[in-house]
Amino acid sequence: MFEIMEKRTIGPGIILMKVKAPLIAGKAMPGQFIMLRVSEEGERIPLTVADYDRGEGSITIIFQEVGYTTKELARLSPGDFIRDFAGPLGMPSRLDGQGRVLCVGGGVGIAPLFPQIKYLYNQGTDVDVIIGARSSDYLILVDEIRDSSSNIYLATDDGSLGHKGFVTDIVKRLLEDDNRYDLVIAVGPLVMMRAVSSMTKEYNIPTTVSMNPIMVDGTGMCGGCRVTVGGKVYYACVDGPDFDGHLVDFDEAIRRQQMYREEEKEAEHNCRILSKI
Ligand code: FAD
Ligand code: FES
Ligand code: MG
Repeated sequence: MFEIMEKRTIGPGIILMKVKAPLIAGKAMPGQFIMLRVSEEGERIPLTVADYDRGEGSITIIFQEVGYTTKELARLSPGDFIRDFAGPLGMPSRLDGQGRVLCVGGGVGIAPLFPQIKYLYNQGTDVDVIIGARSSDYLILVDEIRDSSSNIYLATDDGSLGHKGFVTDIVKRLLEDDNRYDLVIAVGPLVMMRAVSSMTKEYNIPTTVSMNPIMVDGTGMCGGCRVTVGGKVYYACVDGPDFDGHLVDFDEAIRRQQMYREEEKEAEHNCRILSKI
């Protein structure tokens, strides 16, 4: 059982929770995630480690209420317990030895990007960040990222804050202005990561994307999180979630993401694979 230490709403339906999990906090690295189960009857879902505090023994998760389990989780309060909280899972992001990095985050993808930005900045890396969302309310962690980056650029679909348009408009501008980066990291919707990767390919800039396929066990056993990268099959939960954006088969990933659309339309759908009911 894992106690919720803190809970804050940081955007419309976007919740930050600090969870007491000393063993995970002792080992977590940027890019890794946890699998949680809210209750004994619940399904498992993956959430990225959005921050960790080794001294306090806490893991921060930031999630958007999108369906059954995230809504169930959002009902819990400080002092309540989460049934299972397993991790850290996945491979840490490869962030060492970079000179100049451009980080691009879209929507709730800004949360997984934050520990990477912080890690790079604390290492003395020159890190520029572009974050975008549909409107200013959904643009999360702006102050925290401003404090941990060399330059921050904001974009909103409706123009309520920063550039009116997409993060990719700013990526294009920075690359055209001859801003040379050693690495680009993109985290967000698949179409955004595909667009960023195709732009950086033209400039030959190594690009990492974070894949978020359906995960059931999170340990490489079920095959649900299969992704094709450079013509080879990988499992995002153990081989990723970070992959080379120039080699990912995004078209297949987008098709696979849409596979369970009908089941997800059921208001109370709760995946029962690996659960007791
Ligand atoms: P549902 O109605 O069941 O599903 C809504 C959508 O969520 C689906 O269309 C699907 O795209 C996705 N989803 C559902 N079940 C799973 C599953 N078992 N595995 C993966 N995706 C699923 N979301 C955040 O808000 N914050 C995060 O930090 C975050 N980190 C993630 C890290 C990884 C490695 C992965 C794979 C996903 C991450 N997600 C994150 C997505 C999050 O797991 C889903 O939003 C969540 O599982 C939705 O569950 P639900 O029951 O509320 O919604
Ligand atoms: Fe089952 Fe990755 S989640 S193999
Ligand atoms: Mg669900």
